[in-house]
This record gives sequence, C-alpha cells and structure tokens, in this order.
Amino acid sequence: MKAAVLNEFGSVEKFEILDVPTPKPGFGEVLVKVMATSVNPLDFQVRRGDYQSELELPVITGHDVSGVIVEIGVGVKNFKAGDEVYYTPEIFKGQGSYAEYHVADEAIIGIKPKNVSHLEAATFPLAAGTAWEMLYTRAQLKINQTILIHGGAGGVGIPTIQLAKTIGATVFTTARTVHHQMLKGFGADYIIDYTSENYIEEILKLTGNKGVDVVIDTLGGNTLSDSGKVLSQMGQVVTLVDIEKPQNLIHAWGKNATYHFVFTRQSRNKLDELTKLIESGKLKPVVGKVFPLSEIGQAHSLLEFRKGDKNFYGKIAIQVEDESNTEQK
Ligand SMILES: NC(=O)c1ccc[n+]([C@@H]2O[C@H](COP(=O)([O-])OP(=O)(O)OC[C@H]3O[C@@H](n4cnc5c(N)ncnc54)[C@H](OP(=O)(O)O)[C@@H]3O)[C@@H](O)[C@H]2O)c1
Repeated sequence: MKAAVLNEFGSVEKFEILDVPTPKPGFGEVLVKVMATSVNPLDFQVRRGDYQSELELPVITGHDVSGVIVEIGVGVKNFKAGDEVYYTPEIFKGQGSYAEYHVADEAIIGIKPKNVSHLEAATFPLAAGTAWEMLYTRAQLKINQTILIHGGAGGVGIPTIQLAKTIGATVFTTARTVHHQMLKGFGADYIIDYTSENYIEEILKLTGNKGVDVVIDTLGGNTLSDSGKVLSQMGQVVTLVDIEKPQNLIHAWGKNATYHFVFTRQSRNKLDELTKLIESGKLKPVVGKVFPLSEIGQAHSLLEFRKGDKNFYGKIAIQVEDESNTEQK
C-alpha cells in the first residue's frame, strides 16, 4: 500500500510517499481501507519531532480515518467487511492514518454518519471527539451556563461552539474579525477579536464582572493562569495543550476552580454520540480545504503556517481514495 512516511522528523519536505506492507488485522481488529483522513496540529507536532521520545522512525502519522472495513480479524463481534467506519487511531501506538489501509481495534471505531461524505467524516473524530469529551464528559456543561471557547475558528473551536449551543449555553469566543460572521452562523453569542481586544477585560465587561462558568483553553501559554481571572465562582477550565512552564493559579484558587486536563481518548461510545449529533444536523462539518495524500506536505504548511491562506478556518481533509472508487482490497 502507499503511505506518507517520515524517515526523519523535520520540515514538510520530510514526507515521502512510499510503498509499504499492508498491515494485517489481529485478534479483535479490523483492516480499514482509508478513504479520507485529515490534518490536526498533533500531526505537524509529530512531523517536526515534538514527540520523538514517544515514537520510533520510520513513522506514519495521521489521527483521523474515514473508510471501509475490508477484512476482520478473529474475535471481531460488532463489525463486518463493507461497514463504513470513522475513528481516531491510537496516539503514539502503531501506524497512523496517512496510508491506504489502517488496522484498528474494534473498540475504538464507530459507524460513519450516513449524511456526510468520507471527506467530511474524516474531519470529526479527533477534533469534534475532543470537543464532545471536553463538554460532555469533563465540564458537563449545562443549559444556560456561560462558556469561553478560545480559538473559535479552529478545528476544535468550531465543533466546540456547535456542541455548546446544542447544550443551550451562552458562548463567548475569541477569533480574528475576519471570522466573526462565520462564527455567528454557528451560534456564537459574543466574539472577541484577540488581536485588538483584551479578552479578560471584555469578558468581565460582558458578564458584569461575574465571569464565565467554563473556559476552554486551546492555546496554552498564559491562558491556564489567566483563566482564573475570567472564571465565575466554582468555574471550570478545560485545557488541551501542553503545559510548557509552571503556572501561577492564584486567581483560580480564589474562584474555587476545577481544572480538567484532556488528552483525547478513543471510544466507540463517543463516536456513536457524535454520529447522532451529525445525523441530526446539530454538528456540521467545516471542510476548509481538501488535498490528496500526495500533497500532505502542502496540507501541513497550510495548517501550521497558514501558508497560501492566512484566513484559513475549519479543518483540512485529505483524500486518500476517490469515493467513486468502491473497489476493495
Ligand atoms: N489534548 C488533546 O487531546 C487535543 C485534541 C485536539 C487538539 N489539541 C490541541 O488544541 C490546539 C488547537 O487545535 P485545533 O485543531 O483547533 O488547531 P487549529 O485548527 O490550528 O486552530 C487554532 C485556532 O486558534 C486560533 N488562535 C491562534 N492564536 C490565538 C489567540 N491568541 N487567541 C485566540 N485564538 C487564537 C487560530 O486562529 P487564527 O486563524 O486567527 O490564527 C485558529 O483558529 C492545538 O494545540 C492542538 O494540538 C489537543
């Protein structure tokens, strides 16, 4: 099979499209023909070598799959050949999704939503799955609560806004002005331009100094400590990003805050819940750009450096197999 292989960590030029052996499904595993995948920041972090201690070269990265099961291993109970599935491969374990085939444990795959294409479905598992985990499992966001979602126009930000609105929360988000109209369309109630406004002052002004019930930190840096300044009493912070340096949480202490550190977990239950939300139209795909697997380097340049489109938003989908091609392995 063809795969985008990294024999070295580094720049986007390190990707090589090579022929590698097609993996075999073991006990409880399925072999999936990958129709589409996507680009997540985790992929460019892996490519440039941020996680060298976790990985051995050569590496095939990629953390989203939408595809078709072509073979089932011994002991598989819930799926059969021909099922259309989507999922996030296990992180730092085994081969990723930048390849024509992928093997996954049946416990981490879900039936693909029927109302979206493979290209659209491939943009959901990691980003929207993380959004679901943050709001439903961790913060347990409730109707009429207030939430600040940083990086609203990002791959995680957009589904987080959509899910928070589905729950019935009031959404505050940060994004550049060029993205405000789009985010209003997804229901964001208050949008703060992080390049020209001080979000802490704006949140306090908009909430009459009360602060918000939940902060979603997709940024890192000072956001973890500054979150305490915009939280209401007993508020919660959910953070997705590495903590690069020790943080002073004095403001959060004064708010009796709870912090949740999220490293996305794979589960069929989460995918099944996402599928219901997607099929009911509550969660919509936002495919900003599509690239073929052979142009994976350009796709990384767009997400990592905004090369070619500084106003890019949403997700990048990667076409691995043409959807009109139904031929199986
Ligand atoms: N722990 C986990 O399980 C997990 C899961 C998923 C993602 N993540 C992490 O979460 C982060 C976001 O992922 P993503 O997929 O959403 O990335 P993304 O698609 O690149 O989106 C990042 C967004 O943040 C915005 N942004 C940049 N600087 C900002 C600032 N100072 N204030 C407000 N917004 C700002 C960007 O807007 P512009 O266009 O204006 O630059 C962009 O819309 C990444 O670090 C990723 O690794 C972690």
